[in-house]
Amino acid sequence: MKESNLFKGGRRTRAAASVAVMLSLCLPAMAQAQDAAKVIKYRQSAHFLLGWNIGPIGAMVKGERPFDAGEARMRALRLEQVAPMIAEGYPPGSQAGAPTKAKPEIWDNMDDFRQKVADLEAATTKLAAATETGDVKQVGTALGAVGGACKACHDRYKAD
Ligand code: HEC
Repeated sequence: MKESNLFKGGRRTRAAASVAVMLSLCLPAMAQAQDAAKVIKYRQSAHFLLGWNIGPIGAMVKGERPFDAGEARMRALRLEQVAPMIAEGYPPGSQAGAPTKAKPEIWDNMDDFRQKVADLEAATTKLAAATETGDVKQVGTALGAVGGACKACHDRYKAD
């Protein structure tokens, strides 16, 4: 009686141990997938903020709404702040884990991708400087360069 109880206990311990082994094998993969989902959300959020803030400057430059120098400056400063946040959103292993439009080529061409982030940073700094002049023409020219930097990267690295 005593022995068979021990035996049962032993089986239970072994079963618990094998569940623990299975979990220890699965959990890192699950944690990685969770991290990838978070990082994908992070980068999409950063891009979303860029799109959100560039839109109204574009509308002002096109004359779709009156030019507001203060607002253009505020949004340009935001773009300048957010642009350097992009690179952090593409660590190794974040190719998948949530729906994403980032092409796998990014991770094979990380130097070029980072250069395209740097190009955007430079263009947003120039845009911020242009908004200091309060001159809609200069803002328009600088905005064109920012849009070009977005497009250069999207054309190569973002799926439609
Ligand atoms: C260095 C490359 C690069 C640059 C520069 C870049 N993007 Fe992106 N963008 C991407 C990639 C890649 C994605 C897809 C991300 C994903 O789905 O994981 C993306 C996604 C987006 C999205 C969709 C976000 C969402 O809700 O999922 C918007 C909007 C966007 N970009 C706007 C911009 C704007 C505006 C600029 C310029 C001010 C810009 N991006 C500059 C590479 C870039």
